[in-house]
Amino acid sequence: MKYIDYRQSELYVEDVRLTDIAVQFDTPSYVYSRACIENNWHSFDSAFQDIPHKICYAVKANSNIGILNVLARLGSGFDIVSMGELERVLAANGDPKKIVFSGVGKRDDELKRALAVGIYCFNIESDIEIERLNSLAKQHKQVANVALRVNPNIDSGTHPYISTGLKENKFGIDIESAHSLCQTIKQFSNLQLIGIACHIGSQLTSLEPFLAAIDKVVDLINLLKNENIQLEHINIGGGLGIRYSTESPPSIINYVNALCDSLRSLSLQVIIEPGRAIVANAGVLLTKVEYVKHTPHKKFAIVDAGMNDLLRPALYNAWQDIIPVILDNNLDKCMYDIVGPVCESADFIGKNRFLCLKQNDLLAVCSSGAYGFSMSSTYNSRPRVAEILVDKNQSHLIRPRETITDLFISERMLP
Ligand code: LLP
Repeated sequence: MKYIDYRQSELYVEDVRLTDIAVQFDTPSYVYSRACIENNWHSFDSAFQDIPHKICYAVKANSNIGILNVLARLGSGFDIVSMGELERVLAANGDPKKIVFSGVGKRDDELKRALAVGIYCFNIESDIEIERLNSLAKQHKQVANVALRVNPNIDSGTHPYISTGLKENKFGIDIESAHSLCQTIKQFSNLQLIGIACHIGSQLTSLEPFLAAIDKVVDLINLLKNENIQLEHINIGGGLGIRYSTESPPSIINYVNALCDSLRSLSLQVIIEPGRAIVANAGVLLTKVEYVKHTPHKKFAIVDAGMNDLLRPALYNAWQDIIPVILDNNLDKCMYDIVGPVCESADFIGKNRFLCLKQNDLLAVCSSGAYGFSMSSTYNSRPRVAEILVDKNQSHLIRPRETITDLFISERMLP
């Protein structure tokens, strides 16, 4: 079932025409399909079958509270990395008892707030964080659940900027030191070690790195078991990739089945932290062609969305398909660079795209539901765009377009 598809040459999100969205809400806008998000989440959930599990959606992928609330209603857990994300989950009626807190640089105020609301587990990333959390938990007269995030030194084969499981990466505790650190945690009276966590990178397109990391984590867990350290869960992070162009990542079901095969014998709860695989293909960035500019060297289509709205192409040289909202097969196609209005040559949405384009045409940038709006900024003093959540034939504005006033309302001049 495709939730974003053509009907009679017009692109729809569920039962809503993107041309109607453009009229009602203007462009650029992020447009998401509720049914697609729910379907992706259920694919994870049902694939686990009888294995106890928690799906902790990685909030950073798309943190709009409208989206978080859709997931909270399904009973999802959440993986957070900041107090801002924590407050978003709470505002979206997410259950604090299903929150895991990752991140290498958790501040005191963030740890205190997470203790106060009683989250499920802190994913600890360094020896010094153990001491900090223990003393804060003591002040709160609490025993905090912790999982040790290990760095298994596995090459996930993804873009270096989003690879996190190699020893040169800042994340987690190297797997060799993890064992003795688990012993150390036992000596802290206000911490309870309940799990081992691991996240080796994002947009992984093969199972092997996941399985190699799991092997190392399982060895550690078995070692701990022999020393009578009993855990509640193993957290294998997020990272399942999606198809942006020619990649062929495992399906959600094949991925979960492979995990379950390796983990069944542990008899522990399995936690996963998927972000992209739940929301990426549920969203498009809707944008309009402002100008078609021909130079002696190239044809540019200058659209109204820029690198501040969708950073992935500029930051990772990432490919996302760009498709017309209205198909017209009678016109001749040309090769275009689809670029934004921002004053940087890195400001492109897609290079060398074979399209037929004219001024005012609408385009959809595919697979923009993850790391699209959440990485956007107001660079070049461009207000952030609108977000619309489509539910069958209804479109709901879940974040209005920022206004020019919003841009500097809180700024101050010297007295
Ligand atoms: N858990 C942890 C601890 C993470 O650091 C991440 C992502 C996830 C889960 C979710 O990973 P996912 O399932 O979404 O791959 N901005 C980049 C992606 C950065 C991912 C950072 N961490 C992009 O646009 O491709």
